[in-house]
Amino acid sequence: MACNPRHRTVAAPRYDVPEGEATERVRAFYELMERRRTVRDFSDRPVPWEAVETAIRVASTAPSGAHIQPWRFVVVADPERKRAIREGAEAEERAFYGSRGSEEWLEALEPLGTDWRKPFLETAPIVIVVFEVHKGPNSPRPYYVKESVGIAVGFLIAALHQAGLATLTHTPSPMRFLNEILGRPQEERPYVVMPVGYPADDARVPDLRRKPLDEVLVRL
Ligand SMILES: Cc1cc2nc3c(=O)[nH]c(=O)nc-3n(C[C@H](O)[C@H](O)[C@H](O)COP(=O)(O)O)c2cc1C
Repeated sequence: MACNPRHRTVAAPRYDVPEGEATERVRAFYELMERRRTVRDFSDRPVPWEAVETAIRVASTAPSGAHIQPWRFVVVADPERKRAIREGAEAEERAFYGSRGSEEWLEALEPLGTDWRKPFLETAPIVIVVFEVHKGPNSPRPYYVKESVGIAVGFLIAALHQAGLATLTHTPSPMRFLNEILGRPQEERPYVVMPVGYPADDARVPDLRRKPLDEVLVRL
């Protein structure tokens, strides 16, 4: 046995895929994921709570540094709180688009057509605010916190997409205003603000191309 016998272990769960089916399975997953797009115009159609809850369960299966699981997912459906989040985000974004953002950064954002206005923070039926959890009275010191939370958010986006729900990875900067609106302690640091819902009927997205495989894959 490769594990230190002083530590309690369980048999590694098996998830055996017949060799002949491996590519087909992952191709089907790729086809699902390839259809994901960041949406910025949401319908106010309600989302199924159980699907959201289950997607958060999926996110929480992510690997994390020293298995600290340094994440908190705050699901906001309350219109007053959503309005407060929008107001806080728009104040930061107005400063960013007005003067705080570098010319290079604003130029990179140009093709996306984004600006300081964030109506989706109110129209989307829910907004999930993800926090990094740092050392505090009830939480241990985390390791590789940004990497761990980033992986969990990736799982979350994939799971919500699987449920037919669209997301927007929104990062107003700075985001500390969220602690007060959501009543979260100081050891929790906002990581991303994610409106979740169905695209509006007339929603459109930028015409983007993804890098071909030979630009992202190196075989040695
Ligand atoms: C870390 C991160 C931060 C982002 N922040 C914002 C944001 O603040 N506002 C926004 O409209 N889109 C934001 N995006 C979305 C990207 O613009 C989007 O993922 C990219 O244009 C590719 O489009 P796609 O997601 O439809 O493939 C962010 C994405 C990531 C991964």
